[in-house]
Amino acid sequence: MTEKNYTLQNASGQSVELPVKSGSAGPDVVDIRSVYGDQGIFTFDPGFASTASCESKITYIDGAKGVLMYRGYPVEQLADKSSFVEVCYLLLYGELPSGDQLAEFEHSIIMHTMINETILRLFNGFHYDAHPMAMVAGVVASMSAFYHDTTDIQNERHRDIFAHRIIAKLPTIAAAAYKHSVGQPFMYPRNDLGYAANLLHMLFAVPAEDYEVNEVAAEAIDLLFLLHADHEQNCSTSTVRLAGSSGANPYSAVAAGISALWGPAHGGANEAVLRMLTQIGSVDQIDKYVDKAKDRDDPFRLMGFGHRVYKNFDPRATIIRGACHKVLDQLGRVDTPLFDLALRLEEIALKDEYFIEKKLYPNVDFYSGIIYRALGLPTSMFTVMFAIARTVGWVAHWTEMITDPEHRIGRPRQLYTGPDKRDYTDISKR
Ligand code: SDX
Repeated sequence: MTEKNYTLQNASGQSVELPVKSGSAGPDVVDIRSVYGDQGIFTFDPGFASTASCESKITYIDGAKGVLMYRGYPVEQLADKSSFVEVCYLLLYGELPSGDQLAEFEHSIIMHTMINETILRLFNGFHYDAHPMAMVAGVVASMSAFYHDTTDIQNERHRDIFAHRIIAKLPTIAAAAYKHSVGQPFMYPRNDLGYAANLLHMLFAVPAEDYEVNEVAAEAIDLLFLLHADHEQNCSTSTVRLAGSSGANPYSAVAAGISALWGPAHGGANEAVLRMLTQIGSVDQIDKYVDKAKDRDDPFRLMGFGHRVYKNFDPRATIIRGACHKVLDQLGRVDTPLFDLALRLEEIALKDEYFIEKKLYPNVDFYSGIIYRALGLPTSMFTVMFAIARTVGWVAHWTEMITDPEHRIGRPRQLYTGPDKRDYTDISKR
């Protein structure tokens, strides 16, 4: 890191020199760690739009250029040449694996896909109509009650077992939540299937008959998971880092991330996009809803549009849009009204002055739900699919934080605008 200085003038007119750090790419940062101690003031940045919360080597995004890289590899190249499990290895360990390393990693993941039978019984505590995200968040949090044998977060072996275990078990837990919601028996994982194929088996196979995994569907899920694997310091990843910074059990930290992801402004948007497209219903209604989205007095927003970082295009959305065509064609989906509606909505919105001025483009969530729906998943499972994919990103960032010798518990301050000191008044006088 090269050291430069940023000069400010404090309230007394004195110059204050703050060190500037440069990364390997992206904007420099002004190191403000000394500001409160030396100047007695806080910086103020609700939503953290101008704040770097940490130093990281995992993922780089350039919002203006639509760049996304995992450990330096452009996501377009990984989408074209790699696989989700290989990208999991890359995100966790920083380098692409050799053939032997990948085989060993894949074997370890496969050998951790089953869940404790007592965890399976937890699902019986939910009503059939519980939202799958609620079930998944709750069951993942409960893992800290079962796997307390490997929660010495200072022990590298324990961290590795945690990483492999939770990446391997999320699909099994997700499929169990889906089976519970449709009243079908749970399907155990199979060790002869790949990551995405195993998930399809656990979701859609039934004991009454053989189930043939559709390779097109498996490839589509593998691509979607790869594109959703990590995304720098987004809301849910920052939640995992903050929860983990207290030394909390890593399963609990990931469960906090799942809960943060559920929000419609974040990972819940893919579910909200499908509901929005269904609500719009037909191309002739698009203008009405675009006008609603532009009306500041109307809370309606075009879900799947806009991004805190991408003010150009989201490279993931571009790749997924292309995959949509291929998957729908290969699955023989002739009835593609929702996809046609989405394409038309994108075309109309991108020509609209408001969206151009606000730099609102389709994001990763705009098209992913259309593929999940074409694969037969209910809308309520879309964000669960996002959570399966993002688990590796959460684990990679949690590990990077825990192994950083300078890491401290995250504890922001505030600008207090509440009442001045006042004395308690007895209820008889109120
Ligand atoms: C994800 O951070 C990540 O990396 C997230 C993610 C990841 O991989 O982890 O990429 C995944 O969460 C993608 C985003 C999914 N969310 C949605 O699609 C929900 C719809 N989008 C918006 O809620 C919004 O665009 C956000 C939340 C994505 C970004 O919000 P910001 O950065 O806080 O921007 P903002 O809300 O301040 O909006 C800026 C302006 C506002 O207008 P003004 O107040 O300036 O007049 O743009 C408007 C907003 O009203 N605006 C929209 C809009 N999104 C923003 N207007 C209509 N429709 C929209 N979708």
